Amino acid sequence: MRTDNRRDLILFLLALILAGSGQNTKEQKEMWQSTFGNVGGKKVFLFTLKNSSGMETVITNFGGIIVSLKVPDRHGVIDDVTLGFDSLQSYVDKHPYFGALVGRYANRINKGTFSLNGKTHQLSVNNGGNSLHGGVSGFDKAVWDVIENECIPGRKLVLFYLSKDGEEGYPGNLSVKVTFTISDSNALDIFYSASTDQTTVLNLTSHPYFNLSGAGSGDILGHELIINADRFTPLNEYNVPTGEIIRVENTPFDFRNPKAIGERIAQNDPQLVYGKGYDHNWALNKKEKEFSFAARVTEQRTGRILEIWTTEPGIQFYSGNFLDGRFIGKGMRTYNHRTGFCLETQHFPDSPNQPAFPSTVLEPGKQFESQTRFLFSNTK
Ligand code: BGC
Repeated sequence: MRTDNRRDLILFLLALILAGSGQNTKEQKEMWQSTFGNVGGKKVFLFTLKNSSGMETVITNFGGIIVSLKVPDRHGVIDDVTLGFDSLQSYVDKHPYFGALVGRYANRINKGTFSLNGKTHQLSVNNGGNSLHGGVSGFDKAVWDVIENECIPGRKLVLFYLSKDGEEGYPGNLSVKVTFTISDSNALDIFYSASTDQTTVLNLTSHPYFNLSGAGSGDILGHELIINADRFTPLNEYNVPTGEIIRVENTPFDFRNPKAIGERIAQNDPQLVYGKGYDHNWALNKKEKEFSFAARVTEQRTGRILEIWTTEPGIQFYSGNFLDGRFIGKGMRTYNHRTGFCLETQHFPDSPNQPAFPSTVLEPGKQFESQTRFLFSNTK
């Protein structure tokens, strides 16, 4: 073959390879990112994170919502284990925080008010006179920016939100970054970081509702739960902590050994009456800020196990008491009473008004950091 011909052939082959890889890149991009819609003129996308062990999760930059999370059961059967909707509009409409990032303050602040450095702040109230999950329009209703150069398509999604000074009554411009990472060990890690230009309070969480036998497949009362906590924070009749941190011994709040969620839920215990079931914060057994085991849930029929690890001092276990069939979820499935549970890693509710609770104050110049892991496995 003459040199010229050979060179042409090489160039032709190179062009073919490049065209092929271009195709792949486009396909890969489409697999990673697709359009979900628009909110307030801002584009909203769906991002797919996938590992090599059969786990896949779809997350949107609207509210940082985990739209779906698919994991294998004991026999390798894949199911979506989180409650949610098919359409963006259903997430825009009022709903009980399905899958959402929650901020600026997860859970309740008594009467939506607190004092910082001698100044009283009034938050917007949205829950029987209290402020719940950040107020009327919390982080769950924000369109987050995607930090594209920090994402790893298919593996890592990095979201950013600037919560402006005075938003929902909170002081300080707060910059929040949340990173979702999937790993081959069937873990979804959520890293939170934040900084502020004025002293403020902050409590961030992610609010997926799980049903390990598959979203919309029945109630979660038979799921077995362990919570690594000797103590919990009891509520008053308005679902706000009394300020005490009491022992779980001899109460239906003792989950130190595995117990079915439904085993004691109907007991005539004043705390279960206030919460309409479980809707409480447990004070985790841990050293300050250590990344440690918080909870484990096992569903015996499918063999699915969810383990939760966190740097946070508390976890809110909510047994889906307010689900009542009003919400029609993914695949037209109805979410009836207690068909999903939440385990929200957090600082304790109403900490800004409770000096004995770990502090949620963030000062300018300090970096807020937090990590939570949802780790899936199976019984043998
Ligand atoms: C709260 C519940 C609330 C649910 C949905 C949980 O974190 O503790 O009281 O109903 O979120 O908003």
